[in-house]
Amino acid sequence: MSSDPAPTTIPHHVAIVMDGNGRWAQQRGESRTAGHKKGAEALATCVKLFAQKGVKILTVYAFSTENWRRPLAEVSSIMALVPSAMRLYLSALHQAGVKVKVVGNIQALPSKTAHAWRHIEKVTANNQAFTLLVAFNYGGRWDIVQACQQLITQQVPAAEITEDIFASALALHHYPDPDLLIRTGGETRLSNFLLWQLAYAEIFFSPCLWPDFSEAEVNEALSFYASKQRRYGALGDTADTLSGAPSC
Ligand code: FPP
Repeated sequence: MSSDPAPTTIPHHVAIVMDGNGRWAQQRGESRTAGHKKGAEALATCVKLFAQKGVKILTVYAFSTENWRRPLAEVSSIMALVPSAMRLYLSALHQAGVKVKVVGNIQALPSKTAHAWRHIEKVTANNQAFTLLVAFNYGGRWDIVQACQQLITQQVPAAEITEDIFASALALHHYPDPDLLIRTGGETRLSNFLLWQLAYAEIFFSPCLWPDFSEAEVNEALSFYASKQRRYGALGDTADTLSGAPSC
């Protein structure tokens, strides 16, 4: 976890709630599965675009702990999309130096899906140009609960639990907090995404449906971010004097 201000106006870490695949498909009389497939294509394009702009880490919400409540056919199609998207995009991602990591409860996935994720992680493990974190069977509340379970299992005394110790047990503990959150599809909620890590992110809501999100929208989101002065609860330019609990 890090609360340091970004050194430039380009966010180091961008998080995205990729919303709108279903509506995109519906507008074209296509199945929701077709929408998710197009969403995977948009993701591959966006990785390239954000990397070109200087972003280093992208975390995307691809399947939430609540998405199991969708119709079985849709859940199955998203699970099957992982191995097929891997066949389509892995080689290009790998050649571009993208490290892919999955965050979430992978053990609970169908074995073909879990195996595909482990394969992508293994092949790209040593890449360093860009990191793509895919939140899959992930929920912010799940993450907080599993962190508590880890600390209790390790018998960490209550008095020793600080924000940093707690963050070290969360799924994204190797990575700085997102600087910018983008939610597409016109909704304006967090939907249980990165509840701890988004504490000081700038939030950009776009009406664009995820499959249509491309360079113009990427530029719009980055311009929005560049227009913000990040204060982390301090006043004016005093973010570097941050100490103690952040105020509002
Ligand atoms: C939300 O849109 C989107 C999802 C629940 C799935 C996101 C998945 C992808 C973009 C594919 C990524 C693929 C891989 C392999 C990582 P929605 O279906 O809720 O859209 P709606 O609000 O229009 O119904």
